[in-house]
Amino acid sequence: MSDCSGRPADWVNPLRDKRDKRMPRIAGPCAVVIFGVTGDLARKKLMPAIYDLANRGLLPPSFALIGFARRDWADEDFGNVVHDAVKQHARTPFRQEVWDRLAEGFRFVQGTFDDDAAFERLRDTLRKLDEERGTGGNHAFYLSIPPNAFPQVCEQLSKSGLANKPDGCWSRVVIEKPFGHDLASAEALNGVVNSVFPESSVFRIDHYLGKETVQNILALRFANELFEPVWNSHYVDSVQITMAEDIGLGGRGGYYDGVGAARDVIQNHLLQLLALTALEEPVSFSPAELQAEKIKVLSATRLAEPLDETTSRGQYAAGWQGGEKVVGLLDEEGFSKTSTTETFAAITVEVDTRRWAGVPFYLRTGKRLGRRVTEIALVFKRAPHLPFDATMTDELGQNALVIRVQPDEGITLRFGSKVPGHLMEVRDVSMDFSYGSAFAEDSPEAYERLILDVLLGEPSLFPVNAEVELSWKILDPALEHWAEQDKAGGRPDAYESGTWGPDSAFEMLQRSGREWRRP
Ligand code: BG6
Repeated sequence: MSDCSGRPADWVNPLRDKRDKRMPRIAGPCAVVIFGVTGDLARKKLMPAIYDLANRGLLPPSFALIGFARRDWADEDFGNVVHDAVKQHARTPFRQEVWDRLAEGFRFVQGTFDDDAAFERLRDTLRKLDEERGTGGNHAFYLSIPPNAFPQVCEQLSKSGLANKPDGCWSRVVIEKPFGHDLASAEALNGVVNSVFPESSVFRIDHYLGKETVQNILALRFANELFEPVWNSHYVDSVQITMAEDIGLGGRGGYYDGVGAARDVIQNHLLQLLALTALEEPVSFSPAELQAEKIKVLSATRLAEPLDETTSRGQYAAGWQGGEKVVGLLDEEGFSKTSTTETFAAITVEVDTRRWAGVPFYLRTGKRLGRRVTEIALVFKRAPHLPFDATMTDELGQNALVIRVQPDEGITLRFGSKVPGHLMEVRDVSMDFSYGSAFAEDSPEAYERLILDVLLGEPSLFPVNAEVELSWKILDPALEHWAEQDKAGGRPDAYESGTWGPDSAFEMLQRSGREWRRP
């Protein structure tokens, strides 16, 4: 049984929880409603993830999926759309018997967000499913829609009685970023959502937290004795977090123009990676303890100044990528010819704690960069003394521990080693751990993990309200600084597609004698 705080029916006090955590948990009876079911995210990620969960036996036999949209579709039309999405994007093989069972629970409700009658139809559809299919009155509402529609949908869910559930059932809301566009709008948005759903029933998706390698940061740091003693300012010179993409933005103007790389990615994914890299050891891995440590470290994080020197923004110009000529952002479909939206952003932050005092954290992200790669690199200080002739260590760099988030997930340790031969010559080498060769199991997609966690009521991998607001508080001064530059006729620095970003990003590190790693 649950209370209406949104705790799952099988909620267990983490301090007393003696379950074997290696056993996969199967979701209890429930239904998922997707708003924005005709969008890209639903087709490419959500529908395939739901099928993959069913295929892995992690959804209950009574599971139901309801699409809500303006299109004039019957249940079968919706089923066909899900079918195509699964065939194209699912991770696991298509099995007819799994599909047939899953498809029995598909329903479609036609309507717009301002239409009270549509929400009444949705309520009736869910009630009928509860009775006929046994979904148990447990409903997750997935808002895969623009944030300006959140207030209206939350209000409609409240008005139609879908947000509040009697004892024994749960109602949860899942929201996709962007969670606002600055601190003030995020606070307003959180206010609206929390006026309908208690915080314990709100699941904010940051899909990076569902990635296997991101969860491995905690295992690496806290399950080993080797790394933690050097994980601090005594040994670490700087930390570099890179999320580079080779894709451009053609066709995504509707979402991206006016948003930009910092809001799209740094505010959420990269600051979450920073939090996991920099936090102190949590008392336990219970959601509350982990969140407390993330909140603590984000509260201690701020942009280094002066912003002219510690930040950089760029916009991709035409260039070559993968052997093909590609156009610049201003010539992409869906972008205004005068757009000042940045497609590259880099910031320097400081974490004001004893552990990290004086260690700069460099965060960068961009589209149309050299290649797709996400990594966290701890770059270590140089040895205080080298008992070699200078020529012997010409090719010795700084030691680095690199967490390769994607692709080619794994960990690399870079250190100096003697080059074979008569001379004493030291050069950098790498020691690699790769998920692909160390484990036989495939990693689930981030959305599989996260959707299952919503259904289980397991909140560890979802940023809470305070984390979202603190992240905006960190980023806002950079956004304001760039907006001021725009007002004065400034623009993001142009960089050629296929390169590693604008000169200003390189200068940002050169000022302190450092350089970006070449992933
Ligand atoms: C999304 C951003 O959150 O992450 C996109 O909105 C970006 O702009 C995407 O392309 C990258 O995700 P992944 O998992 O492919 O690294």
